[in-house]
Amino acid sequence: MTKMVDGCGNQCESAQLPGAGQRLEKMQGHWVLARAGKRVLRPGGLALTRRMIDALSISSDDRVVEFAPGMGVTARMVLRRNPVQYWGVERDAAAAARLESLLPGDATQIVQAQAEHSGLPDACASVVYGEAMLSMQTLQQKKRILSEARRLLAAGGKYGIHELCFRPDGISAAKRREIEAEMSTEIHVGVQPLCSSEWKQLFEQQGLKVIWCGEADLDFLEPRRILQDEGVLRCLKIVCNVLKDPMLRQRILAIRRIFRKHKEYLGAVSIVGLRVESAA
Ligand SMILES: C[S@@+](CC[C@H](N)C(=O)[O-])C[C@H]1O[C@@H](n2cnc3c(N)ncnc32)[C@H](O)[C@@H]1O
Repeated sequence: MTKMVDGCGNQCESAQLPGAGQRLEKMQGHWVLARAGKRVLRPGGLALTRRMIDALSISSDDRVVEFAPGMGVTARMVLRRNPVQYWGVERDAAAAARLESLLPGDATQIVQAQAEHSGLPDACASVVYGEAMLSMQTLQQKKRILSEARRLLAAGGKYGIHELCFRPDGISAAKRREIEAEMSTEIHVGVQPLCSSEWKQLFEQQGLKVIWCGEADLDFLEPRRILQDEGVLRCLKIVCNVLKDPMLRQRILAIRRIFRKHKEYLGAVSIVGLRVESAA
């Protein structure tokens, strides 16, 4: 694979972006954002990611599994901490191929698989985490992924998530259904967030004792947050891409409109749990 330098001076690959073969009209929302040049695709942005990594206290003693590394932004932050081993489990073939070429080092391995069937050995990790991937799964899939995280963790290991959440905790079922339906239509992914207390309950049910939780507003498509997450040069690139392509602009504005419309009821949550011996 050839290395090249993108418009922002960042080294990137000639590998195709995920979703490259799809029509923009039907493309999943996260790949639309990636097409525009966005690299941070999780709801609470880099600030909540940093807090999660700190809560996971990842160090050079850790063996780390990341579910759904996507564009590899968190992977790079974690690799700077020099873990003993890093595995990225990504289901999208193009994303996995791109990650393989982007992430250096003998201690780094990309597995193209579903997170719920990673194929990695039992108790191989001291840290497992995943961002912006559980919210797009059914409740049964969410449970299977948490169960896989628990299987991969050695005793005392930690699991971290960073996902969409409904708020407040008592939000009505009708409002949830309305928001899920609108988001799924616009983003072209079945989006099923949980309330903060429900995410925590899932952890506890899988024998993961919640030791930390952080929340943030869902403003990851607001200009101030894009600037914080992507930096000035990449922001300019995103603006250029969006101005050049009317369909791209239409899709991104529609996604932002949905998030703005429901911002009172949606947020980002990050939770870290500790693997304890018995699952409930
Ligand atoms: C919204 S993007 C988030 C990417 C990245 N985690 C981030 O926060 O920037 C969703 C990612 O989850 C991946 N994904 C979704 N379901 C998955 C699963 N069951 N197993 C592995 N990867 C999955 C998609 O391929 C995509 O890379």
